[in-house]
Amino acid sequence: MTNEAFQPSRRSDVAPFIAMDVLAEAAKLEAGGRSIIHMEVGQPSAPAPRLALEAARKALEHGRLGYTAAAGIQPLRHALAEHYKREYGVEVPSDRIMVTTGSSAGFNLAFLAAFDPGDRIALTAPGYPAYRNILRSLGLIPVEIEVSEETRWCLTPEHIEQALKDGPVRGILVASPANPTGTMMSSDALTELIRFAEAEKIWFISDEIYHGLDYSGDQKSALEISDNAIIINSFSKYYCMTGWRIGWMVLPDQLVRPAERLAQNLYISAPEMSQLAATAALGSVQELEAVKAGYVANRELLLEGLPAIGFDQLLPVDGAFYIYADISRFSDDSLRFARQMLHDAGVAATPGVDFDPVHGHKFLRFSFAGAHENMKEALVRMSNFLSR
Ligand SMILES: Cc1ncc(COP(=O)(O)O)c(C=O)c1O
Repeated sequence: MTNEAFQPSRRSDVAPFIAMDVLAEAAKLEAGGRSIIHMEVGQPSAPAPRLALEAARKALEHGRLGYTAAAGIQPLRHALAEHYKREYGVEVPSDRIMVTTGSSAGFNLAFLAAFDPGDRIALTAPGYPAYRNILRSLGLIPVEIEVSEETRWCLTPEHIEQALKDGPVRGILVASPANPTGTMMSSDALTELIRFAEAEKIWFISDEIYHGLDYSGDQKSALEISDNAIIINSFSKYYCMTGWRIGWMVLPDQLVRPAERLAQNLYISAPEMSQLAATAALGSVQELEAVKAGYVANRELLLEGLPAIGFDQLLPVDGAFYIYADISRFSDDSLRFARQMLHDAGVAATPGVDFDPVHGHKFLRFSFAGAHENMKEALVRMSNFLSR
């Protein structure tokens, strides 16, 4: 056989994270002694809650860490069921809750459990890039629907009706609060879209990874609206545990066993130590609310500071820790602009092209998950950069 015979699969040909180029450049500059303020990273700078760290230490000292049931350890699944009762007033049996290795594994399992190759799944552009890349690698077809100010950057039944004209849609995937926009669907908008999905027999997948990080108090889980919705969540954001790789799903009854069988075969179980730590993290609300108070202060600072220095077209920042800014008055090449800002001002932000191949060249995403002092300094640096 010739070498040409040994080719990677077509489905592995997914897009890279363009933002990684900016990250790599930032790292190079830092290695050369430059001070860089990181507003490109989508993760909390705070450590995991104290109780989670204690639980992990205890597990290391005393525990034999092994495989767990594929669906996760019982105490964590029970604690998550309690979480739904406490936070949302919803009773859900713990056997509908499945622990995953981050929400990323949740997406893979949910897509595999609900869809067959060639199925079309509707999602927003701009949106989190891994959605479309995971879908493509699994032989599914992402139907990216451009959203705008008109619908507050959210999908509506009208969008889906339009997509249905080009062929059946088997799934609708939304995130609220969303990445990169930070916008949230109102309770009415979410209810209307879920009702529409149910009527059309379309799976509804709700990425609730930024729940807890809402600034309007109008946070609703799709689980409050429908038992047929697939809920995906994670300990990565509100709980400050990105590196622990723990997420969870709440599944409709008929998907529980298929997802469990898939998990058993794909990765056996999520890491036991991280599951123990995550269980403890659910009891750390006070500490986590203090972290959130830091985001609230950063958000206020930037919502005033960014327009004052010239970034005056911002999307509504209802939740998460992102600000998506229209930079078209400065540039129509967000990748180049981000590079220039990195080199000249020492501030790293993510170019919109990662999130939206069509309009992303006009946008930058700023993460405000960092320290307040750094946000202040970033504003000074960017002000000098923009006024040159
Ligand atoms: C919207 C959204 N969903 C899912 C993820 C994946 O997170 P994890 O796999 O750490 O749970 C991210 C990460 O940034 C995200 O922004």
